Amino acid sequence: MEPRSAHFFLGLSTGIAMCSGLFSLYTGWLLAQTPYLEPAAGKYLADSPQLADDDGIPPAEAMARLSEMYALSTDKLNQIVRLFVVEMKKGLAADGQSLLMIPSHVTSLPTGREHGSYLVLDLHAAMLRVAEVVLDGHSNARSRQKTFTISQKHKTLPRDELFDYLAECLAEFIHDDESDSVVSSPPLERPSLFKLSFTFSFPSTQKSLDAGSLILWTKGFANPGVVGEDVVQLLRAALVRKGIANIVEIVALANGTTTNLVGHAYTQPSTLAGVIVGTGTNCAYVESVENITKLDRRTLKNKDAKDMVVNVEWGGFDDGEVIIPRNKYDVKVDRSSKEVGKRTFEKMISGMYLGEIVRFALMDLTKTGDIFRAGGSPELQKANSFETSFMARIERDHSLDLGDTRTVLEGMLKIPHTTLADRRLVKSLCELVGKRSARLTAAAVAAIVTKMNKLDGCTVAIGGSLFESYPHYSNRMRDAMQEIFGITAEYVVLEQIGNVIGQGGAVVAALAGHS
Ligand code: BGC
Repeated sequence: MEPRSAHFFLGLSTGIAMCSGLFSLYTGWLLAQTPYLEPAAGKYLADSPQLADDDGIPPAEAMARLSEMYALSTDKLNQIVRLFVVEMKKGLAADGQSLLMIPSHVTSLPTGREHGSYLVLDLHAAMLRVAEVVLDGHSNARSRQKTFTISQKHKTLPRDELFDYLAECLAEFIHDDESDSVVSSPPLERPSLFKLSFTFSFPSTQKSLDAGSLILWTKGFANPGVVGEDVVQLLRAALVRKGIANIVEIVALANGTTTNLVGHAYTQPSTLAGVIVGTGTNCAYVESVENITKLDRRTLKNKDAKDMVVNVEWGGFDDGEVIIPRNKYDVKVDRSSKEVGKRTFEKMISGMYLGEIVRFALMDLTKTGDIFRAGGSPELQKANSFETSFMARIERDHSLDLGDTRTVLEGMLKIPHTTLADRRLVKSLCELVGKRSARLTAAAVAAIVTKMNKLDGCTVAIGGSLFESYPHYSNRMRDAMQEIFGITAEYVVLEQIGNVIGQGGAVVAALAGHS
C-alpha cells in the first residue's frame, strides 16, 4: 500500500485554498469597484502589471496544442484494452515480456475467517511502515503501526546497510509500545515468536510465497547489490545480525498490489483485483492456474490449486510505443529517468513522474512565450521541483483569480510574476496530465476485468495517493470505464482500500497456513 503522507500536505493545501478563496473574493470585490475609482487610482490599477497584460485568456493555440498532446479518445482506450489483454497472455506464457505477470504463489482468497497476529513490514517509496495486525476471524482486523523515514539516502545505501535499517526499525517497533495506534483499542497481544509478512512492492520473481528475487528497482531506489538477490534471505540475514532472528519468522513476501487485493477481499469477497496508483503503479489479479503456462507446477505448494494471484507489473506496458501516443515531454521525462526506455506506462501514470511532465511542459511554454512573459525561475529548472502534489493543489483551486495556484507558482516555484491567463494555462495543463493518467489506469483495469471475464460483476480494490487524494482521479477513471464498457461498467466496482494498516500483509500470511 502506498504512503498516505501526501494527505497532510493535500489537507494543508485545502486550508490554503480556502484562505486564498476568501482573498480572491476580496480582490474580486476590489476590482469590481474600479470603475468608481478616482481617475488617478484607476490609472494606477490599469498600469499595474497584474492587469495590463492579463485578459485572463490563455493563448488558444497553446491550449489546443496541449489538449491534442494529452488526448486519449474512447477509440484509443479500446485499442489499449485489446493490446493489454494480448500482452497479458504473452506474459503468462513466458518471462521477459512487457507485462511481467509474476505468479505470487497466493493460491486462495480469504474467507474472512482467517485469524491470528502478524507483523507486517512494508517498504514504501517515502516511508517504511511496521505494523502489528490482528485478524479476528470475522472479517475484522485491528493494528498498531509505526512509520520510519525512507529518505533519498536510504534509497542508495549498500545492500546490507539497507536491510540492517529494516531490521533495526523492526526491532525498535517490537520493543516499543508507544507506536501510533491506528485502529486498535485494547493493546495487542505479544507473542514470543512473531510471524512476519514482508510487503515489498518492487518487481520480484517468486518461486514460493516466502522467497523472491528482485528483478529491478523502481520508484527511485537504486541500492546496489540487491537485484537478482532473494530479498527474504537478505532480510533474514539482517535479522540475524540484529539478534532478533529467534523472535521473528518471515512467513510471506508479497507485492503491495497482492496485499491490496487479499486485504480487501477479507472484508469484501467480490474483490478480484488490487491496484496501486501512487508513487508507482501496478495491479494484481486472480488468474486461473491453467492459464499461467510458464508456471513450473512443481513449485506449487498446493498441487490442486485452481487459481493464483498474478502480479501484473504493468509499469512496462507498451514500452515499444505501439499504441499509446507519447509527446515530447514524456520523452524528456523518460530520458531524465534512471531506466531510459523502460516502464514508460508508469511514467505517464504515477505520482513520481506527473509533476515532472508538467515542469518540462512549463519550461517549454516559457521559451515559446506562451506563459510567464516575465520569465521562469531557476527553481523551475530544477529536476522534480514541480511536485505532483502541486498539481493536486492547483486542480483543487476553484478561486476566481486562482490564488492558490499563484501561491504555488510565485511562492514555491519563485516565478517572478504570473497573470491570470498563465495560471489558467497551468491549471488546464495539470488537468490534462492528471486526466490522461486516470484514463490510462482505467484502460488497464478494464483489460484486467476483460481478461478475468468478470464484466458481470467484481470489485477492484485501489490504493495509493493519486487514487485516494488527487482531485477527480476516481471519477475520471469511472468515466473512462464507462466509455470502454458502456452501461456494464457499473458492475465493475472501483473501491478504495480500507484503512487498517497492514491488513493485506497479515491476510497473505494467514493464507499461507500460518494462522
Ligand atoms: C512497482 C510495483 C509496485 C508499484 C506500486 C511499481 O513501481 O514496480 O511492484 O506494485 O510500483 O507500489
